[in-house]
Amino acid sequence: MAMMKVLFATSEVAPLIKTGGLADVSGALPAALRAIGVDVRVLLPGYTVVMAQCQSYEVVATFATLVGFPTARLLSGKMANGVPLFVLDCPALYQRDGGPYQDARGNDWPDNAKRFGLLSKVAAILGGRATPLAWHPNLVHCNDWQTGLAPAYLHYKRSAVPSIITLHNLAFQGNFPPATVRALGLPASSFGVAGLEFHGFMSFLKAGMFYADHITTVSPNYAKEIQQDELGFGMQGLLADRSHELTGILNGIDVVEWNAASDSHLAKHYDSADLSGKAINKQAVQKSMGLAVAPDVPLLGVVSRFTHQKGLDLLLEIAPRLMELPVQLAMLGSGDAAMQQAARDLAERYPGKIAVMIGFSEALSHQIEAGADMFIMPSRFEPCGLNQMYSQRYGTPPIVHATGGLSDSVVDCNPESLKDGSASGFVFSGMTANNLFNTILRAVNLYREPKDWLTLCKNCMAKDFSWEASAKAYLAVYRKVLLR
Ligand code: ADP
Ligand code: GLC
Repeated sequence: MAMMKVLFATSEVAPLIKTGGLADVSGALPAALRAIGVDVRVLLPGYTVVMAQCQSYEVVATFATLVGFPTARLLSGKMANGVPLFVLDCPALYQRDGGPYQDARGNDWPDNAKRFGLLSKVAAILGGRATPLAWHPNLVHCNDWQTGLAPAYLHYKRSAVPSIITLHNLAFQGNFPPATVRALGLPASSFGVAGLEFHGFMSFLKAGMFYADHITTVSPNYAKEIQQDELGFGMQGLLADRSHELTGILNGIDVVEWNAASDSHLAKHYDSADLSGKAINKQAVQKSMGLAVAPDVPLLGVVSRFTHQKGLDLLLEIAPRLMELPVQLAMLGSGDAAMQQAARDLAERYPGKIAVMIGFSEALSHQIEAGADMFIMPSRFEPCGLNQMYSQRYGTPPIVHATGGLSDSVVDCNPESLKDGSASGFVFSGMTANNLFNTILRAVNLYREPKDWLTLCKNCMAKDFSWEASAKAYLAVYRKVLLR
């Protein structure tokens, strides 16, 4: 069989541009697929920071006459990990200061429909017969709402290739006024329940889920949850209808990037045979974040977007109660302004015991994963979640709410699971402040039993979260779609 060719369309790719887990997945999954023989190439918008990193790329196509869109160019090059990358250069849409989706003040860019309409459109052109490139993919793999229109554009092209869409988070849907349908050059007839209409809006995500040949999401448990009212975000009906074409595949993690034995951000390397270096990393975090240097006080770590999804409001709520225990809290993140302020207030109220760093720092995120004794992730919903896997790999047992991918990747610690070697963290059901508090208490009590605690940490580090198995599962989906 000839080598399978896949265009992987995405709105962020680590390390070029990252706001969350989608970037990690887009950075690692294509490389893992290439390692098992799939010719995957990535398509990404040429945001200002991306263009600065791709100056040696060559122009391979120009799109001057796309109805409704400014002139754009396609650049081609290779990422540091060897994965071929197409950068969609359209200064009018992507060259600006701010984030990929929002301006510096946190407001969505007003022209997002056009910005990601173009990304979707170009993904569809490259998957169509009239592609300007010599490289013809067999399939287009879309990710989240930003590329959700590609399956719709492909649907309206003759002899276009099939598509799949991976759902990383149903909370972000890309819903726009109905006039957008025309503005983006889609036929009026597409605007219906059997199409891209969602409660009177034109929905990029709905379009992807409706027109793609197959849907995947980032954990088996989330695949089930999104077919139900509570976590379906209004899409549960469509997803339940397509349940036989919906596959949950747990994300992997980049085990080279996240390796405590070689991580350049760490004060001291360590591995599962000898965890003693962890204490040095803990001390380094305590020092750099302004916490008291206290080797025996359990250090709780958080690295997260500050949003309702992540459930950090519960942690902030119980912080005063936690401060009666011997624990410290180190938080890194940004997002919701009220949550940021609440976290800052707590740090001021409990100097040396709570430290908060508002912002985005790759280095500090690695340092907290390594230096903390426990990692807190009380998400209300979590399609997959990567930090709980990073923390396990770093021998830092996570404390998580039983939802989505957290349920699929963390095994609750009890005498039995500790004994059989499966325990890898602490899991609570019932999204209440009390349940979170009691679960942290449970972890802190076990921490007082050094032998058991070491067993738990080693269990965590022994787990295999590499991309290999997941890449094979994606390949199976590609094959299934192409055989139809
Ligand atoms: P989500 O994509 O919903 O935010 P994930 O757990 O899948 O959640 O992925 C989040 C990714 O972003 C992880 O790689 C995490 O380390 C990183 N991250 C989140 N917030 C920060 C931050 N403030 N600084 C550095 N990295 C962060
Ligand atoms: C989303 C989800 C997160 C997932 C990530 C990568 O951002 O919120 O749970 O891990 O996508 O798939």
